[in-house]
Amino acid sequence: MSKSIYVASSESNSGKSVITLGLMNILVGKIKKIAYFKPVIREFGHHKDINIETINDHFGLGISYEDAYAFTYPELLKYRSEGNNAYIIDTIITKYKKLEDMHDFVLVDGMDFEGEGASFEFSSNVEIAKNLGIPLILVAKAEGYRPDEVTKNVLSTLQILSEKEVRLVAVIANKTLPEDREELGKLFDKLLPADVLHAIIPVAKELKSPTMKEIVAAVDGHLLFGENFLSNRVDHFIVGAMQLRNCLTHLEENTLIVTPGDRGDIIVAMIQANLSKNYPKVAGMILSGGLEPEEPIVKLIEGLETVVPIVQVQTGTFETVNKVGSVKSRIYYDNTAKIELAINTFEKFADTTAIINKIVTTRPEGMTPRMFQYEMVKRAKTTRKHIVLPEGNDDRILLAAEKLAKQGIVQLTILGKKDEIEASLKRLNIGLDPASVSIVHPSESPLLPQYISTLYELRKSKNVSLDMAADLMTDSAYFGTMMVYKGNADGMVSGSINTTQHTIRPALQFIKTKPGVSTVSSIFFMCLEDRVIVFGDCAVIPKPTSEQLADIAISSAESSLKFGIEPKIAMLSYSSGTSGEGEEVDKVRRATELVKMRRPDLQVEGPIQYDAAVDPAVAKQKLPHSKVAGQATVLIFPDLNTGNNTYKAVQRETGAVAIGPVLQGLNKPVNDLSRGCTVDDIFNTVVITAIQAQQ
Ligand code: ACO
Repeated sequence: MSKSIYVASSESNSGKSVITLGLMNILVGKIKKIAYFKPVIREFGHHKDINIETINDHFGLGISYEDAYAFTYPELLKYRSEGNNAYIIDTIITKYKKLEDMHDFVLVDGMDFEGEGASFEFSSNVEIAKNLGIPLILVAKAEGYRPDEVTKNVLSTLQILSEKEVRLVAVIANKTLPEDREELGKLFDKLLPADVLHAIIPVAKELKSPTMKEIVAAVDGHLLFGENFLSNRVDHFIVGAMQLRNCLTHLEENTLIVTPGDRGDIIVAMIQANLSKNYPKVAGMILSGGLEPEEPIVKLIEGLETVVPIVQVQTGTFETVNKVGSVKSRIYYDNTAKIELAINTFEKFADTTAIINKIVTTRPEGMTPRMFQYEMVKRAKTTRKHIVLPEGNDDRILLAAEKLAKQGIVQLTILGKKDEIEASLKRLNIGLDPASVSIVHPSESPLLPQYISTLYELRKSKNVSLDMAADLMTDSAYFGTMMVYKGNADGMVSGSINTTQHTIRPALQFIKTKPGVSTVSSIFFMCLEDRVIVFGDCAVIPKPTSEQLADIAISSAESSLKFGIEPKIAMLSYSSGTSGEGEEVDKVRRATELVKMRRPDLQVEGPIQYDAAVDPAVAKQKLPHSKVAGQATVLIFPDLNTGNNTYKAVQRETGAVAIGPVLQGLNKPVNDLSRGCTVDDIFNTVVITAIQAQQ
């Protein structure tokens, strides 16, 4: 049984951190308690090891920095020179075992050092993996080699591993030229042992390019403006010593301009070029020679809302350019965009299911919130659905769209004025690929006339005239819902600006309920610290009748099953079992009977209080014979007042992520957001909507 994996590369600069980030991402999606361990770290000055910082911070592993490594590199060299190899290995094993005892799985990140010692470090990695008794994933550097050379290097490494009896699970070739991928794949197919998985990851320019933050550190610069855009990527750099018109013509996407600080003309023009629709995005500017822009220029810049990072350095232009050219990009903990890109690149080119099946041989029971979210994203990706987002004038929608598009989860249509959305995208520093995201202004859409006449036909019996239909269709919630009704989109997510009523009324009016369902209701997936439970209904029906409560319970049980949660339904009230009397308790009692009659296959208990529903000790006392009490997973509230306040109380007081409200019972998926929603809430709701659309 394997409880860990060792990731090692036989060369420096293999881009191993992309693979460890990608692996960690799939592991946290499958396993409850995970640790990250680096036998040997490298600290730069006062800076901690960036891999430990990045992995710990991004995945919230909660392991102390000291527990996550055994030696610093200088310590390793010292003990080695003293011939203390046994002490080195013993210490590594002791520290590793401590993590292994406390976790379900340990990802061990091998040494990866630059220079002549690199091959020696690889044999040290093999030695450690052997002593820890854990299998290994080899990261092979493909950059700078032909496919046959990469294969040759891998085969000789395989020889070393087999001599040392270290089991190899997978070979991952990284930084491969796109045109070499196919040939390398064929060579691996032919020459690697059949039980060794392989993946070929192409070189990603975006991962190689440094950010402005890295550039500022490398040139020892003083940031004058643009603090909010330090994550800008630098793909090219030019020297702005030429005339302005020439400088403009040399601009490419994500260019850094190095120019003397007294070139006010270039400085102002580059800020404008960044904002202009007709020029590519500017990454930032470095003002060389210790010169500051003159006072009127500074005043002008200070009055602008959006300014790219402008950095002053004391060095001359030539020296500065040399420093910029030699910056090597790394993945820092605060660069979420780069971390996500690394994870997405790995997911796209590696068979994550095959890898996980090979390295994780036991599965702990239950589902953590992270496992739930990982499974959701994975499912949404299986058949890409088209989701419409009517609130294009909300920045959060655009930021969520960027995240969704980058991960290739859905096709999106964003509604709103094209010019305004494009300006917001530029201001927010977002690039949306038109192949996966389109922007539509409802009143300019060629579909508008047929949408108006369809709405008129559907609602004329409710006294809607053609004029009223035309008027309603200028409302993006109506337009978006009609896109779903007509099959021009598969689902809609709205409500970050509009109220719940505004968002869901069009769906209630013409998308209507599924056959056999008479009530539209909602659930929240409440992602608690150690498990995910379902709350219903916290958003739609203010005062449900017994019949409606039974509908809500049945729909919620079906929804939870569809999302991998075994339903055990608690019909909540202020009384448990037969102890209480009163109209409200009787309503819940009747609803419970209805559920039992209509769906004898479902496990349901009611009326029951919240504590008896979720706490085994209270359950034992109050309802000792119940199969649901103490372990309820689907909690049905007696009315909207209780449901809405409870979900918000749990969310705010425990920090739980509340995914929803997810509407259930509609013919096609439309989902509502809360107006206080975060970008992650929007992301999650779109993912859930896409899965509903698949069903
Ligand atoms: N299921 C099925 N159909 C319904 C439902 C339902 N639950 N509710 C209304 N309908 C139908 C009606 O039959 C009607 O159809 P018709 O026009 O074809 O005859 C249509 O929808 C409109 O019905 P109205 O009675 O006019 O309902 P209205 O649109 O005024 O309100 C709504 C419906 C919006 C769901 C209302 O019940 C409501 O306001 N609920 C509370 C929403 C809320 O504020 N939630 C809390 C905030 S959400 C949060 O915190 C995340």
